[in-house]
Amino acid sequence: MLIVGIGGTLREGSSCEAALRIALAEAERCGAATVCFAGPQLVLPMYDPADSARAPTAAALIAALRAADGVVLASPGYHGSISGLVKNALDYAEDMARDARVYLDGLPIGCVATAYGPQAASGTLATLRAVAHGLRGWPTGYGAAVIARTGLFADGGCTDPAIDDQLRLVGRQVADAAKRRARAA
Ligand SMILES: Cc1cc2nc3c(=O)[nH]c(=O)nc-3n(C[C@H](O)[C@H](O)[C@H](O)COP(=O)(O)O)c2cc1C
Repeated sequence: MLIVGIGGTLREGSSCEAALRIALAEAERCGAATVCFAGPQLVLPMYDPADSARAPTAAALIAALRAADGVVLASPGYHGSISGLVKNALDYAEDMARDARVYLDGLPIGCVATAYGPQAASGTLATLRAVAHGLRGWPTGYGAAVIARTGLFADGGCTDPAIDDQLRLVGRQVADAAKRRARAA
């Protein structure tokens, strides 16, 4: 069972990436293998449907998504919505439009948004879920809208137990849904 994480920012010590990694760690605790494409790994050429050449990282991202049993998406709220970095990476899923499993069809997708305020956090979470639907995935029941603040993440952990629980719930729901899907196949 493979869960693929995509998200974070280019900032050293990104809280969005820390949030993503906590959700993935919980998916691992539930028995999943995980792979994470975060921050600098998402620096890809703007997706061009007319150009089939793919940078090695883009090819690795697409290969991971093709093998995925579940996905966790994490984006910062930039000016009220998901960041260009994360959206451009997700646009590469267009390469899966003609796969036998189209895009992320049927996969559980956990969504995590971070922002300084509730408006951008909740709007970004809603947008991530809309993208998940656009890719034919199933956003999990719980999505985390995290208000990022200095000191919230340290040493790979979250200093607020309630937010830590929320992030872990996202990872657990993705792993549990992936397990149920595998059993039903
Ligand atoms: C270009 C830019 C735009 C941002 N716009 C918003 C915004 O509209 N609302 C908000 O609450 N936070 C905004 N933020 C704050 C980010 O959401 C916050 O930095 C992010 O969630 C955590 O970033 P990190 O992963 O780099 O730590 C913005 C930050 C940047 C750099």
